[in-house]
Parts: sequence; structure tokens; C-alpha cells
Amino acid sequence: MRNFPLVLAACMAATPALADTFQEVTVTAGKTLFEAECRRCHAVDASDPSYGPPLENVLYRAAGSYEGYDYSIALEASGIVWTPAALRAWMEDNDGFMPGTKMRHVGIEDRTVQDFILAYLGSISPQDNKAIEGE
Ligand code: HEC
Repeated sequence: MRNFPLVLAACMAATPALADTFQEVTVTAGKTLFEAECRRCHAVDASDPSYGPPLENVLYRAAGSYEGYDYSIALEASGIVWTPAALRAWMEDNDGFMPGTKMRHVGIEDRTVQDFILAYLGSISPQDNKAIEGE
């Protein structure tokens, strides 16, 4: 039992590392799913042309606000912000969530898959849009 404090210290030190690893694995899985489900239409930034708007900093971005992208009126006039809940609803049933946009139906109903993709979208959103929106 003499080593107990040492073991405890080692465990506590391991916890943040474990959280980092978990986050890393989640983002990596999200990237793989993004590549499979979204990438054929969405690039991360404008240096890579894509049919849909680039999704960098999409988290808490105002819908229809990527500079220079030709949005549908439905999306541009929606007045919504891409919160995690809105992104989930959009992935699950974009037509039902917001009818009349240019995005073909994507039906990702599995919450775990949504979690992974959200983690990836968060990782490509270093900008604090909440501060910009004043929310
Ligand atoms: C078949 C092509 C296609 C696929 C696949 C696709 N999208 Fe889209 N997406 C679009 C298009 C086109 C738009 C623009 C819609 C408009 O202007 O009406 C769009 C818009 C969006 C927007 C709104 C962005 C903004 O700037 O307001 C988000 C968020 C989004 N897509 C997320 C996703 C995610 C996440 C996936 C994968 C799960 C995905 N999309 C799959 C074509 C696609």
C-alpha cells in the first residue's frame, strides 16, 4: 500500500490523456464518416471547390452565410444558426427540417454517427462564432 499515492497520481494523470484520446478517436471516426457521407458535396474550405458550401467554422455559423456561395432562398432566408441540435436535425432529415433547399436528402438517423460527424465539424470550427453572433 506504500505505493498507493503514486498509483493514484498516475491514475489522475491518465484521465485527461484518456479524455484526449477519446476526443481524438471520435474526431477521426467523424472524419471517416464525413468523407463517406458529406465530402462528395462539401469541402472544408473554399480552396477546394465543392458543390455544397464549405463547412469550416460551421458550428454556430448563421445558415446561408458562407461568403460567395450561391445558396437557395430557403436556406439563406431561414434565419437559423447551426447549433449542434440544428445540425443533428439537418443530418437526420434535411428536407423535413427545412424544405426547399438545394441539398439532396441525407438521412443519418443514428445518433452515434451524428455524434461523430458533429465532433468532426467541431474540429474544423476553430472560430468562436458564438462570440461573433453575440449569443
Ligand atoms: C448530394 C450533395 C450533398 C451531400 C451528400 C451533403 N450535402 Fe450538405 N449541402 C449541399 C448543398 C447543395 C447545400 C446548399 C443548400 C442550399 O443552398 O439550399 C448544403 C448545405 C449544407 C449545410 C448548410 C451550410 C450553410 O452554410 O448554411 C450544412 C450544415 C450541410 N450541408 C451539412 C452536410 C453534412 C453534415 C452532410 C453529411 C452528413 C451533408 N451536408 C451532405 C449538398 C450536400
